[in-house]
Amino acid sequence: MDKKDLFNIAKDAMKNSYAPYSNYNVGASLLCKSGNVYKGCNIENASYSLTNCAERTALFTALANGEKEFEAICIIGGKDGVIADYAMPCGACRQVLAEFCDADFKVYVGINEDDIKEFKLCELIPYSFNKSKLGDWYENLRYNRKETR
Ligand code: THU
Repeated sequence: MDKKDLFNIAKDAMKNSYAPYSNYNVGASLLCKSGNVYKGCNIENASYSLTNCAERTALFTALANGEKEFEAICIIGGKDGVIADYAMPCGACRQVLAEFCDADFKVYVGINEDDIKEFKLCELIPYSFNKSKLGDWYENLRYNRKETR
């Protein structure tokens, strides 16, 4: 599974994008350390702020299916489904990714199979606020241990 494969899976995911308000369609493919890949798309709502971004849809789907460790994500998108630029993840998605993914988790954004930029998550959300700031008592909570998270 390389970045071109992930690009093509993200493109497929974008077909399910529900974006009648912005007409900005986004698709994402998330590669887990297990080898499984989960798709996500943006899902908007008439109450705009309830919109879910493609990256979070992919991550939440993976988590809901029991995945715990993540390798890379590819995000693509554009107005009316036309991929004209790199679809950089929004701040909210960077924060949510930082909750579950390591600093060297790879973020791919692409325009086509041969034009894919690669970032490490720590480049996109440096000096993040994360659970390590909340102290040992938080790390020790049962639901935050890796095996049960
Ligand atoms: N969107 C994403 O899916 N991911 C991002 O990181 C940025 C924004 C979606 C949300 C909304 O449906 C549309 O793009 C326009 O903001």
